[in-house]
Amino acid sequence: MSAPRPDPATRHGRSVAAMFSAIAPTYDLLNHLLSLNTDRRWRDRAVRRLAPRPGERFLDLCTGTGDLALAVLARERGCAVVGADFSRPMLLRAARKAARAGAPLPLVEADALALPFRDGSFDGVAVAFGVRNFEELDRGLFEMARVLRLGGRVLLLEFSQPRGSLFGFLYRIYFTRGLPLVGRLVSRDAHAYRYLPATVQGFPPPPVLTCHLEAAGFGSVTHLPLTGGIATLTEAVRIR
Ligand SMILES: C[S@@+](CC[C@H](N)C(=O)[O-])C[C@H]1O[C@@H](n2cnc3c(N)ncnc32)[C@H](O)[C@@H]1O
Repeated sequence: MSAPRPDPATRHGRSVAAMFSAIAPTYDLLNHLLSLNTDRRWRDRAVRRLAPRPGERFLDLCTGTGDLALAVLARERGCAVVGADFSRPMLLRAARKAARAGAPLPLVEADALALPFRDGSFDGVAVAFGVRNFEELDRGLFEMARVLRLGGRVLLLEFSQPRGSLFGFLYRIYFTRGLPLVGRLVSRDAHAYRYLPATVQGFPPPPVLTCHLEAAGFGSVTHLPLTGGIATLTEAVRIR
């Protein structure tokens, strides 16, 4: 792992990093349990869309315990993946998992709003369940555009709100009541699993997210709803 970098600059950043650090020990278990393992399928879908090729370089931003980065490497060993996150306990878990898998995964402790990478250094940037935590979404998207080469792709996998149907109604009850309860019991952290539905509800819907991406220099934006709209996979290309 890289040398420690300065803490996230803002109070919001520090409190988000502290929250994820606190739940790091139970993060993987809860992820798979609360999503009934669907999170793995969603990441696999993101990796298939990323379609890594030998020699390409990818950034898994907000890598957490490294699942998306490791899924990219499992698909294409000939590419290079860097994982970045501002929670050291999450990165330590990612490092252990990478070592167990025998996968080369450099990990960088960094804030997504001020990335320590040169302009145009990646062919693709992927973020799974990270962007809704950003204090300034636009600044995060500009940073992603900056570190991508022209024509490079960004993939954002994020929870979303299924609308209208009975399924949507039942899911909202689960997401706002059941999930925080199970999350609190397993992780013993009441805040983190109340924070999750709150940030999902506050995240821009696809048409608004498209405007943010376009303002940051992306084009060809598409949104693919997954599992009835519980999650959405957004894809865009850096065009300027
Ligand atoms: C819900 S977890 C997702 C982890 C992983 N991508 C996955 O698919 O399981 C969100 C991660 O984003 C990280 N994160 C949130 N905001 C960040 C920021 N501004 N800079 C760097 N990491 C951030 C947190 O520390 C946490 O590890």
